[in-house]
Amino acid sequence: MNFADFYKESIDNPQAFWAEEAKLIDWHTPFAQVLDYSNAPFAKWFIGGQTNLCYNAVDRWVATQGDAAALIAISTETNSEKVYSFRELQTEINRMAAIMLSLGVGKGDRVLIYMPMIAEAAIAMLACARIGAIHSVVFGGFASHSLAMRIDDAQPKLIVSADAGSRGGKAVPYKPLLDAAIDLAGAKPAHVLLIDRGLVPMTSVAGRDVDYATLRAQHLDAQVPVTWLESNESSYILYTSGTTGKPKGVQRDVGGYAVALASSMKHIYCGNAGEAYFSTSDIGWVVGHSYIVYGPLIAGMATIMYEGLPISPDAGIWWSIVEKYKVTRMFSAPTAVRVLKKQPPEFMKKYDLSSLKALYLAGEPLDETTSTWISTELGVPIIDNYWQTETGWPILSIVKGVEDKPTRLGSPGLPVYGYNVRILNESTGQDCGPNEKGVVVIEGPLPPGCMQTVYGDDKRFVSTYWTKIDGRQTYSTFDWGIRDADGYYFILGRTDDVINVAGHRLGTREIEESISSHANVSEVAVVGVEDQIKGQVAVAFVVLKHAEVAATQEGRKAQEKEIMGVVDSQLGAVARPARVVFVNALPKTRSGKLLRRSIQAVCEGRDPGDLTTIEDPISLQRIKEALVI
Ligand code: PRX
Repeated sequence: MNFADFYKESIDNPQAFWAEEAKLIDWHTPFAQVLDYSNAPFAKWFIGGQTNLCYNAVDRWVATQGDAAALIAISTETNSEKVYSFRELQTEINRMAAIMLSLGVGKGDRVLIYMPMIAEAAIAMLACARIGAIHSVVFGGFASHSLAMRIDDAQPKLIVSADAGSRGGKAVPYKPLLDAAIDLAGAKPAHVLLIDRGLVPMTSVAGRDVDYATLRAQHLDAQVPVTWLESNESSYILYTSGTTGKPKGVQRDVGGYAVALASSMKHIYCGNAGEAYFSTSDIGWVVGHSYIVYGPLIAGMATIMYEGLPISPDAGIWWSIVEKYKVTRMFSAPTAVRVLKKQPPEFMKKYDLSSLKALYLAGEPLDETTSTWISTELGVPIIDNYWQTETGWPILSIVKGVEDKPTRLGSPGLPVYGYNVRILNESTGQDCGPNEKGVVVIEGPLPPGCMQTVYGDDKRFVSTYWTKIDGRQTYSTFDWGIRDADGYYFILGRTDDVINVAGHRLGTREIEESISSHANVSEVAVVGVEDQIKGQVAVAFVVLKHAEVAATQEGRKAQEKEIMGVVDSQLGAVARPARVVFVNALPKTRSGKLLRRSIQAVCEGRDPGDLTTIEDPISLQRIKEALVI
């Protein structure tokens, strides 16, 4: 079948289309209905069907390829490498699940996972899935304030964490940040399960903190039956940044997600059972959920979890892994490729990369130079794919497994089956013509695997994402885009206050709120500014209460360091602005709205646009001047 027909069938006849795709996973009880969209925009998929993510990822493969590699955990930080077969992984999941049950965790309870990239993190996620607990993985780079907000929202019964992560050979303690977060949070977990890697000493809170190794030893032979879940019950929450300071809990289902992953692993990532797959992302992000942990395992592939830098011990590390495990499909982000591009090319040439069939890149715009460079170096197709935490799997891509259509530089390709993607004019709401810039939207229902709702806040789900256009519910991606005459899409950045630093999605409002908590900060605006390596970096413009402290170069440096320190300790270094620039006033409209887009334009040397509503035109001029100080 050609892709155009495949796509058309998915849009015109979603029930039949997805019933066919649903055969890619195992169901304990067959579903009675494929789609219920009677309560639009809430879509329910595979109603009445019972299944389990852990069963599909692990148990079903134990019977047919129990000794094949399932999880390969490599750390160049601790110089360790461990291969778990499907059977061994199942055993470890059973132990972890038994520990969770013994700590009172049951179906529907939330478990927060705050972990470095170690095998136990994936094991904890899969153990939650096994017993029907809802996991909420928080990126290890986030600090106590971010963590506390997520604890308060999800109200976890249990938190699974570790003594420390490690970066560049230096231990990064987790436990003190976690303790501070629990102190800050209103909701208190009953228990904290700690994996002691022996990296840094930990203090323990009596009655609350429990040691994983001790409990594991008590559950070595545990057999925990799979909890079958109705397709629309929840599997996890993953927080993501938006326009407000409060991150949204993206809530995912079970059956729809399993089908979407199995389907995308087949048609987009083209992975086969028994092969090795390597994604360089982190379990704290959506790529880690979909395409480190669940997707590859559901496809029966060995998945590689890597803890360490891409250039340590040298820039050949990833390619040595590809050679050693005969990786067929690899998934990374443009920033990582730009980092490698700065390294001597012989590191890539040293290894036999003949197993590799394609490299998938996502998370941020892929520029043409980077794409051309890596495709020449590797000699394999580079597949740019565009999607979001909200969707859980690609919206735009080349669906190679159906038809190997040509890629187009700078474009993530065509709408993926199941997604009725359109580009709408921002002011008129009408469809844009070819090469006309507009907002990328998806007409409901969203396909299986996409978010069910905002955790605990259906109203916010509807009001944030959905608009009725011509009587049809339409989901906004908050991305600008254009479609060329051949139907290829190009993504042109966000329409909201979200920025993308090295493929990490961050809300400028969250960073602003954190900076505002510094005693000497009167006003602040954070914008994303173009960066050669990271795509974007955050730059903060700050009006001080006592401006005299920043009168000298040293004074400014000291104040900048303090402000960065506040962000580091509250949100984590991942959110730290690259620069803090001190100004006397911020450009605003007469009604007091910050002109972030104009500030950003000035920073990038572009035309700041329509300034008829600006209150104080001089303030924008001052921003320009302050930038060069
Ligand atoms: O702005 C788009 C950008 O990243 C946003 C979603 O980020 P996140 O929720 O972290 O999900 C990442 C999943 C891969 C999008 O709204 N983005 C993601 N992929 C691309 C992209 N921008 C351009 N090209 C892409 N391939």
